[in-house]
Amino acid sequence: MVSAPSLTTPIRSDIKALDLVSWRRHLHQYPELGFKEHLTAKFVAERLSEWGIPHQVGIAKTGLVATITGEQPGPVLAIRADMDALPIQEENTVPYRSRHDGVMHACGHDGHTAIALGTARYLSQHSSDFAGTVKLIFQPAEESPGGAKPMIEAGVLKNPDVDAIIGLHLWNNLPVGTVGVKAGPLMAAVDLFECRIQGKGGHGAMPHQTTDAVVISAQIVNALQTIVARHVNPLESAVVTVGQLHAGTASNIIADSSFLSGTVRYFQPELAQRIESQIEAILTGICQSWGATYDLNYWQLYPAVINDAAIAELVRSVSTDVIETPTGVVPTCQTMGGEDMSFFLQEVPGCYFFLGSANDTRGLAYPHHHPQFDFDETALGMGVELFVRCVEAFCRQK
Ligand code: NI
Repeated sequence: MVSAPSLTTPIRSDIKALDLVSWRRHLHQYPELGFKEHLTAKFVAERLSEWGIPHQVGIAKTGLVATITGEQPGPVLAIRADMDALPIQEENTVPYRSRHDGVMHACGHDGHTAIALGTARYLSQHSSDFAGTVKLIFQPAEESPGGAKPMIEAGVLKNPDVDAIIGLHLWNNLPVGTVGVKAGPLMAAVDLFECRIQGKGGHGAMPHQTTDAVVISAQIVNALQTIVARHVNPLESAVVTVGQLHAGTASNIIADSSFLSGTVRYFQPELAQRIESQIEAILTGICQSWGATYDLNYWQLYPAVINDAAIAELVRSVSTDVIETPTGVVPTCQTMGGEDMSFFLQEVPGCYFFLGSANDTRGLAYPHHHPQFDFDETALGMGVELFVRCVEAFCRQK
């Protein structure tokens, strides 16, 4: 239909002119937790207004959607960026370190927001370069409790109806100058469980009078590790992690009760039911043998991130052009980490991908969610270029 410009379009100088680093550093200084991204949303809305880009605010509390229309009619592509930070005290001493005590952009969502803003700015200045519509979705609360689902329920994929969606995560598991992209399962489903064990407390020297919640919990934690080892096909991937175990008050008191919680990860949806019932079976068996009781809560939080083959191929092909080295596009980037981008991908075909952001020589290689996390900001411009070229390619494809 409409031919988009070729990939030789000199977009890099225009991207260089964007204030990506200063936007990112501003957002980094004022991090906010999920559904509390008021300053962040205000900052995004102010930039969009400044540039005359139509947008809606207050979607799923603090989310925004900006709409940029090309000069020709065409398909609708959504680009999703998450905006929330984490409850972590930043240990970096950079001038742009967090000014919000106990809150930090330790996952790179400040960068995602800056990249989406840059993409919006660029596309609004080059609306003759693409056909159709681009919806930029600024999503709250990816880390917890999840802003994607309420945004979908609020209708962000409708009117106009979104044909495909893309999104990226800055990724310190890959060096800057690389892109991780693959078709099919990329990130695991995320479930959460919490369990209270009720025993009978007593004197540390008189165990025969008690039902020891510590000993029972220790057996449960060990037994839970057999679920993946003995109940899941070794050719499938799954994780059962107990992240919390609390019990007891003193060395000479046998604990009355205990609390444990954990996360379950997998790709095959049917594993949720199997793992949950195996957790239940272990709790029933062990507690019964001790005369203790338990109370289990199990929640399926995020489904697995599954990329559409055709959109993943589009992103891979665009990445090859942007990165300019064939080895820079990494197909082995699957992870048991989770993401609520999965809810968007259940609704429309799309691709979530990783943008390498680590730079070891500059000390920018701490893992995500670490108090010293930071990333190589040269990835920001690459992110904008990837998104812009995906828009151009998607339009050309239709
Ligand atoms: Ni993240």
